[in-house]
Amino acid sequence: MIIRKYRKSDRSQVEHIQFETYFLGKSGSLIATNPKRFHKEIRYYLEKEQESCFVAVNNGKVIGYLLGCLDDENHEESINAFLLKSIFLFFQLPFMNRKDRTFWFGTIKMIFGAILGKSEEKNFIPPKNSGHIHINLLPEARGKSTGTKLLKAFLEYAKSKNVKLIHADSFQTRVNPNKNFWIKNGFKEYIKVKTSMWKTYYPKEDIRLVCYVKKL
Ligand SMILES: CC(C)(COP(=O)(O)OP(=O)(O)OC[C@H]1O[C@@H](n2cnc3c(N)ncnc32)[C@H](O)[C@@H]1OP(=O)(O)O)[C@@H](O)C(=O)NCCC(=O)NCCS
Repeated sequence: MIIRKYRKSDRSQVEHIQFETYFLGKSGSLIATNPKRFHKEIRYYLEKEQESCFVAVNNGKVIGYLLGCLDDENHEESINAFLLKSIFLFFQLPFMNRKDRTFWFGTIKMIFGAILGKSEEKNFIPPKNSGHIHINLLPEARGKSTGTKLLKAFLEYAKSKNVKLIHADSFQTRVNPNKNFWIKNGFKEYIKVKTSMWKTYYPKEDIRLVCYVKKL
């Protein structure tokens, strides 16, 4: 297994992994049918900040990725952007099949709840002057230090670019227990809020949205 920088030719496999891990580490196909709607969420990294992205490759196949951003301000997910995205999706709802409609309706509800201050998610404000990462591995690649190696490669790179703080936003739940991964790698919990994001699928599960931070 090797860790290397992302290349344009990795894009379809990275998008595949994003969809295959979207649902709390499980396949997005369990909750939706159109992967393209999900791929939009990682477009920024693959098009605007490729040099901050790393992949893990085993026998020539990309098995995991770390998508990085050195400065949140470059990828500002402003309230307006979320609002626009939600309105756009809202008008698409009648044309979606039931599975997709259920997922996207829940997502829109969550975003509106946060924006209108009706849910705890409104308090989810990551630190200022920070970069951030998304990291995901295919299920068969987990638990073999690959995530730790991807993280190390990115953190060395971020340090060389004089980045002082990195955060990672992650769902904390028994269904996908990854808290240890962040703690073992020197991250600390910065904010933790209750989230309604996966309520439709896990009504009884206590799921928290956590922002982990690490000083470089
Ligand atoms: C979380 C994740 C990136 C960790 O990478 P990994 O290569 O599996 O983890 P490592 O092997 O480097 O292990 C480091 C620590 O993470 C924890 N860990 C190990 N396997 C894990 C798994 N399958 N899932 C979650 N955490 C795991 C352990 O505490 C481990 O330390 P230990 O082996 O001394 O107990 C990876 O498991 C994954 O992609 N999970 C699903 C998606 C996800 O949760 N992404 C992160 C949030 S957006």
